[in-house]
Amino acid sequence: MGAMPIGQVTRGTTGANRLRRVDRWIAALPEFLRSPDPLVVDLGYGASATTPLELHQRLSRVRDDVEVIGIEIEPERVATASLSARPGVSFRLGGFEVPLDGDRRPAVIRAFNVLRQYSEADVPAAWDLMTSRLAPDGVLVEGTCNEVGRVASWIDLTADGPRTLTASLHLASLETPSIIAERLPKALIHRNVEGERVHAFLDDLSRNWQYNAGLAVYSPVQRWLATVDAMRDGGWPVLHGRTRWRLGEITVPWASVAPAPATLPPGAQ
Ligand SMILES: C[S@@+](CC[C@H](N)C(=O)[O-])C[C@H]1O[C@@H](n2cnc3c(N)ncnc32)[C@H](O)[C@@H]1O
Repeated sequence: MGAMPIGQVTRGTTGANRLRRVDRWIAALPEFLRSPDPLVVDLGYGASATTPLELHQRLSRVRDDVEVIGIEIEPERVATASLSARPGVSFRLGGFEVPLDGDRRPAVIRAFNVLRQYSEADVPAAWDLMTSRLAPDGVLVEGTCNEVGRVASWIDLTADGPRTLTASLHLASLETPSIIAERLPKALIHRNVEGERVHAFLDDLSRNWQYNAGLAVYSPVQRWLATVDAMRDGGWPVLHGRTRWRLGEITVPWASVAPAPATLPPGAQ
């Protein structure tokens, strides 16, 4: 018998096409594209095999040698999903320790809508454990989205810690980017309060979106591009370029939105 999987069983809610925005982002991730062993783990895939199968299908378009392993902590969900195994896609029982055969290490671990049901205090240990399992150049993509996948955000991390925060929005149906507040990764969702950088980020994003409302007559994409430009002009160190922004994405370095360090009581070290 192997060791107990690390983590807790949570609701298995999932759905077709829900993770398309982050699938597309992983498909463009340099560390995935140049990996000598393009193994991707979909950790906590939920009640059906849907998201690992879709991830494999989308990543196959850019690397036909991709392999996806779905890892789930709930045994019945593994048994159900295993009926859908096919070349390049398999399923196994496990938790944040990311069990794999031999000394294989994943190029990417995607954990979506998993930490959402944990407490904020659980996040650092889960991140550490998952990133410790990555291939040397590997990336953990940890985030959250709404039921239909139109509002999503994620953090990408390496063994050195978090690198960036990305928000990804379906622009045609977007009323205001502040909707991301409900779908921030666990490490940030409770930090959307006055004095925190992520709060300032969402405030500026919504204000710039509002300011550029007139461009909506051309297209929501034009409005979003102007919003992202305004964020840069306002001093936010926005990464990547128009190709990504046109998709409704905005990515900033983690340091620009990371939670403020805990305030120490007077006299404490
Ligand atoms: C809400 S579902 C998300 C399904 C899918 N990732 C999605 O976004 O549509 C969360 C799943 O993560 C699983 N889970 C929670 N903690 C886990 C862990 N430590 N390791 C593996 N799976 C875990 C739960 O059992 C549940 O099935």
